Amino acid sequence: MTEITLRRPDDWHLHLRDGEMLKAVLPYTSRHFARAIIMPNLVPPVVKTADARAYRDRIMAAKPEHHHFEPLMTLYLTEGTDPNDLEEAHRTGLVTAAKLYPAGATTNSHSGVRDMDKAMPVFERMAKIGLPLCVHGEVTSSDVDIFDREAVFIETVLDPLRARLPELKVTMEHVTTKDGVDYIAASKANLAGSITTHHLIINRNAILAGGIRPHYYCLPVAKRESHRQALRKAATSGDARFFLGTDSAPHVDPLKECACGCAGCFTSINTMSCLAHVFEQENALDRLEAFASLNGPAWYGLAPNEERITMVKRAEKVEFPTRIETGAGPVTVFDPMFDIYWEVTP
Ligand code: NCD
Ligand code: ZN
Repeated sequence: MTEITLRRPDDWHLHLRDGEMLKAVLPYTSRHFARAIIMPNLVPPVVKTADARAYRDRIMAAKPEHHHFEPLMTLYLTEGTDPNDLEEAHRTGLVTAAKLYPAGATTNSHSGVRDMDKAMPVFERMAKIGLPLCVHGEVTSSDVDIFDREAVFIETVLDPLRARLPELKVTMEHVTTKDGVDYIAASKANLAGSITTHHLIINRNAILAGGIRPHYYCLPVAKRESHRQALRKAATSGDARFFLGTDSAPHVDPLKECACGCAGCFTSINTMSCLAHVFEQENALDRLEAFASLNGPAWYGLAPNEERITMVKRAEKVEFPTRIETGAGPVTVFDPMFDIYWEVTP
């Protein structure tokens, strides 16, 4: 196959940042994707309805006029989140989900939740009104090995929460382990998972073998090869519980290439090309549409996009910039370490 047409995809987990960075990175998403769930971990975070409305306006102002793109907003849960404010944001259609960051789990998560009991009234309200909870599924305690944090989170936080509130709809975001895949696959209802592009491509060797490569460092951190294989199987299975959330997370190079570098891979530029490559390798090009364009909207109760995009496999490799310049500084583009031939046609 050298050409595929699919419904226009959506990105169910995206960091657009703000200011100059927002202006520079947004067009790479909005030229291919119709919608994206926008992560609220700004500084300061998007915690109230009014913050989400203002951020949404800034995104729309930064969007190229000719791109049709709808940002799906989220609120960042804190121990002080007011369930009434959250319900209001949901009722007016402003937010599509609320995001749980365990405090300290990742970039700008220090205002997140430390004590799950304190957030119970919010989770209860979300279950009642049918607002999905997007979860960064890692524990943060220093006695848990970083490679085990997802599995321990499932056992000690997520499963007890779901047992207590079975009606709560939970998206386990950026699943990185076989444990996560198996947990989702075994669930009967109200659980789904997003998978990033880069976790289908790299394992932890990319970060650590033969030199330390900060541009492959993200959170949750990439795991060993057997986990990557489990993710590939899930993503290409067609199973409606798995869908794309790129977690494209730009940081300027000086903040990545230093003694304590930030977590995040910037993939929005070449995500669709990388995915077509992966799905072709897995003999599953016919399931790319389910992963990128159908399963996500179905989970969030939205209609799939009516528009189509066409991707072609070129005879010559397709070149992407290795880095982009933004008003905030240079940002390195995710390098999949294979030649790319697939391209979204203009
Ligand atoms: C994200 C960021 O930089 O905001 N980083 C990342 O490695 N994915 C935060 C996150 O989603 O964990
Ligand atoms: Zn993220």
